Order: sequence, then C-alpha cells, then structure tokens
Amino acid sequence: MSLQLFRVAPIFIQILLVWLVLMGMSARNIEAKCAFKAIFNFGDSNSDTGGFWAAFPAQSSPFGMTYFKKPVGRATDGRLIIDFLAQALGLPFLSPYLKSIGSDFRHGANFATLASTVLLPNTSLFVTGISPFSLAIQLNQIKQFKVEVETRHSTHSKGSKLPAPGIFGKSLYTFYIGQNDFTSNLASIGVSGVKQFLPQVVSQIVYTIKDLYALGGRTFLVLNLAPIGCYPAFLMELPHDSSDTDEFGCLISYNNAVVDYNNMLKGALRNIRKDLPKASVVYVDSHAVLLELFRHPKSHGLKYGTKACCGYGGGAYNFNQQVYCGNSKVINGQNVTATACSDPQNYVSWDGIHATEAANKLTAYAILNGSYSDPPFPLDNFCDIQPIG
Ligand SMILES: *[C@@H]1O[C@H](CO)[C@@H](O)[C@H](O)[C@H]1NC(C)=O
Ligand SMILES: *[C@@H]1O[C@H](CO)[C@@H](O)[C@H](O)[C@H]1NC(C)=O
Ligand SMILES: *[C@@H]1O[C@H](CO)[C@@H](O)[C@H](O)[C@H]1NC(C)=O
Repeated sequence: MSLQLFRVAPIFIQILLVWLVLMGMSARNIEAKCAFKAIFNFGDSNSDTGGFWAAFPAQSSPFGMTYFKKPVGRATDGRLIIDFLAQALGLPFLSPYLKSIGSDFRHGANFATLASTVLLPNTSLFVTGISPFSLAIQLNQIKQFKVEVETRHSTHSKGSKLPAPGIFGKSLYTFYIGQNDFTSNLASIGVSGVKQFLPQVVSQIVYTIKDLYALGGRTFLVLNLAPIGCYPAFLMELPHDSSDTDEFGCLISYNNAVVDYNNMLKGALRNIRKDLPKASVVYVDSHAVLLELFRHPKSHGLKYGTKACCGYGGGAYNFNQQVYCGNSKVINGQNVTATACSDPQNYVSWDGIHATEAANKLTAYAILNGSYSDPPFPLDNFCDIQPIG
C-alpha cells in the first residue's frame, strides 16, 4: 500500500507540474500585455465614436451597417481607425466624453466630435456647419476629466467607471483633426486663403500637446490630413478645371495644399521633441495610406477609389451635395434618397467625405506596423497586438 503510493505520487506530481506549466502558458497567451492602459482621442468625424450624436441625436441608417448593424454615431459603415487601434491594443471601444449614459472611461475617453475644428469656430454649428467642440474645448474637457478622476479617487467613489489617477502617464494620446479647418473655408476663401491660417492650426496642435505633456501625457500619435482632393464630395463641390486633376482623378491643387500642411505639421512635431524630452511625439502619415488606396484600390482588395458607396446620383462619384448619405430630399419634384451600395467593403469612400471601414482597417494596419510614422513607431514594441479582423 505505502509502496504503491510511493510509486504513484511522483507520476501524479509530474502530471500536476505539466498541467501547471501548460496553464501558465495559456494564461500568458490570454492575458495580453500593453504599455498603454488607455487612449485619449481628440478629433472630428473621422474619429468620433458617438460624441456629436450624444448632443444632436439624429443619425440614420445606413450608418453602421457593416459592423454594428445600426447607427452608432460613427460617420462610416463600421469601425473607425481609432476603433481598430483600441481593439489592437486589447482595449474596449472608446466612450465619447459627451455621452452620459452607458459610458465606461476606465480605458480612456474620446473627445472627438463630428465637424470639430482645431481653431475656434467663428460662430455656432447651425450657422457654419461646424461643431462647437474645437480642439481647445476638447483640451478643457480632458483637464476637467482629470480633476474628476483625481477627486473621485480621493473620496473612494465606488463603482465609478473612471480610471485610476495614474492613468494619464500610461496612455496613448491620439489626434485626428484639422480636416474641417481646411475644408469648411475652401468654398469661401479658396486654397490660397486657407493656406494663410494653416500655420495657426499647426501651432494650436503643438500647444495642445505641450499642455497634455504637463498633465502627464507621454505618448502622442498625430495623424496627418487626408488627401481631400480625392474625396468624391470635394471632386463634386469644389470649383476646378480638368487641368487640375491628376491621372488618378484627384484634385492637384487641393492635394498639394494638404501635402504642404502635412509637411508643416511634421516639421513642427519634430521641433517640439526637444522641448518634451520624456515624450514620444509621433507624426503618422495616414495620408500616404489613403492616397495609395484612392490611387490603386484594386491593389489592396478594393474596387472603387473616388466613388462614394453611400450617396445619390451614381456616375463617377455617386455624390450629390443636396442629399447626403441616409437622407431623402425632393429634387426636381422627385423624392430621392441617398442609399448605400451593397458592398461597402469594396470602397475607399463611404459617403463622399468619410472613409469606409475597409479603408479604415487598412489604414489601422499601416499605423500598427509603424513604418508610416516619424519616427518609426511599431506598436508591437509596446503591446501584444490583438487581431482586428
Ligand atoms: C472669422 O471672423 C472674422 C471676423 O468676423 C473674419 O475676419 C474671419 O475671416 C473669419 N474667419 C473665417 C475662417 O471665416
Ligand atoms: C421620401 O422618401 C423617404 C424614404 O422613402 C420617406 O421617408 C420620406 O417621407 C419621403 N418624403 C416625402 C416628402 O415624400
Ligand atoms: C510593415 O510594412 C513594411 C512595408 O510595407 C513591411 O516591409 C514590413 O514587413 C511591415 N512590418 C510588419 C511588422 O508588418
């Protein structure tokens, strides 16, 4: 009897050890590591996860059709670049700071709203089509957010969906804003007029990063301006003659102005690195990715570049500025609706202004890779990247 135990025990212990090792290995696989515990995002419709619609709730289908299967306050058919980044870092989708019901801020907050600008808008949303939540307001909001996090922590508030006070130094700060500063004034003052105040746009972004650094922020990803000269909406709306379109059908003068702005932004971000020695200030050339998709959609598994999926009018651009995606309007006595294509996965442009989920995913992959960043910034150096399919 005792002899049997003696013979059995080592085998049992061996099995137990093997089991523990296997469990340890699988636990390590499940519990992915990431240096970033939260994301704080500043932006416009290109990264708004529902902030604008928390204040002005009227988003209609077919927005959200691909992934969420209903409108969720994102200006696309599915996920945005910021959604893919959150997923890749193993974090939940960002709750909009403006959304008071059902939000969870333990892994960050999204200050972006549709139609936001970097510079303060001259007048209200309803007059200019511009959001009141400009970058300066978004900066105020995160300052207030930090005060709330710190005071609630010190009063041991239970059950609050807020992060620990130390989160601000362990977060990724992302910026995807500036497009509305550029585009909302094009019709009135033209490219040359817009170019006059673009240096102010860049300095406001730089100023915001310095303020966030003072709050404890250390890692900043700044996405540059997209090639709006390839957007179906601007191809339809902006005055141009055929000599101003390139071989890919994009507007040369507008795209050149975007490139000038992007170079200015890149230079300014390089310059502030010496003032912020403990920070990573990263310029992200998402422009290059999108330009490539507009130019060669078929090389990346897509079919259409400068044609919108959701719109009215068909033709080369499928965009009519009188009736935006999801809306109906009586035009020439006929009630028309701007509806979605059945295959948004084949398009770069969702509604003439915003990218599809398909394009956003390809852009997110490029950002994660790091080779589109200055300096190169592969995120897998900081986190176990999760699949984003
Ligand atoms: C904002 O308003 C000022 C004063 O009315 C005007 O001079 C300026 O051109 C406006 N800026 C834009 C971008 O419309
Ligand atoms: C136009 O069509 C839409 C969609 O079918 C409908 O919801 C709307 O009420 C119609 N509008 C008018 C003025 O008939
Ligand atoms: C990143 O992209 C470059 C260029 O396309 C490619 O050569 C490289 O293998 C990619 N790296 C990763 C980690 O995917």
